[in-house]
This record gives sequence, structure tokens and C-alpha cells, in this order.
Amino acid sequence: DLTWHEICVLADLEDEGVYGVELGGLPIAVYDVDGEIFATHDICTHGLARLSEGFLDGDLIECPLHQGLFNVKTGAPAGAPCTEAVRTFPVKCEGEKIFVAIT
Ligand code: FES
Repeated sequence: DLTWHEICVLADLEDEGVYGVELGGLPIAVYDVDGEIFATHDICTHGLARLSEGFLDGDLIECPLHQGLFNVKTGAPAGAPCTEAVRTFPVKCEGEKIFVAIT
């Protein structure tokens, strides 16, 4: 069974569509893609940059450091220089609250 951790609320995603949180020292980026919520590890697999400080365009997050891209639904790299997938986490919403499970 998954253990769910409450990490933020929908309103946190309103401005940028992406929001960074820490869960027990684990940096997590949370995304709103047309009302569907996704979560990935917040650190780019190419370098030490926070994806939550990047730019979300549809289901792609652009890393703020070298403009690499990841698909936030799958974690797959979607643009150079990123070649290694970023970890994703299961998400569920209950009303305004967003929960992730660390798998
Ligand atoms: Fe993210 Fe280089 S650190 S693309």
C-alpha cells in the first residue's frame, strides 16, 4: 500500500503551474497540467537546478539552468541536454489538498 503525504494545496500551483516542496529533505516539484496534478523529483538530472524554478509549458518542464526539458507525466527527458529521466511520484488530490507517495 502507498503511504500518502500531504505536500501542498491546489492554490500553491495557481501562479506558475509548478511548485516546489520538501518532504523530509526530498525536493519535489508539483505540476498542474490542465487541472491534472503530477509530481517529480525537483532536481534536474543534468545538473543542480530546481525544476520548480523552471517554466512549465503544457506537460513539459523547462529546466532553468540549460533549458533542458522533461515530460512531467512520465519523467522522460524531452529536450537536450537532458538524457536521463527524472523520478516521478504518484499523486492524489482530496479537495484542495495534494498528496504524494514516495515509491
Ligand atoms: Fe537542467 Fe542542465 S541542469 S538542463
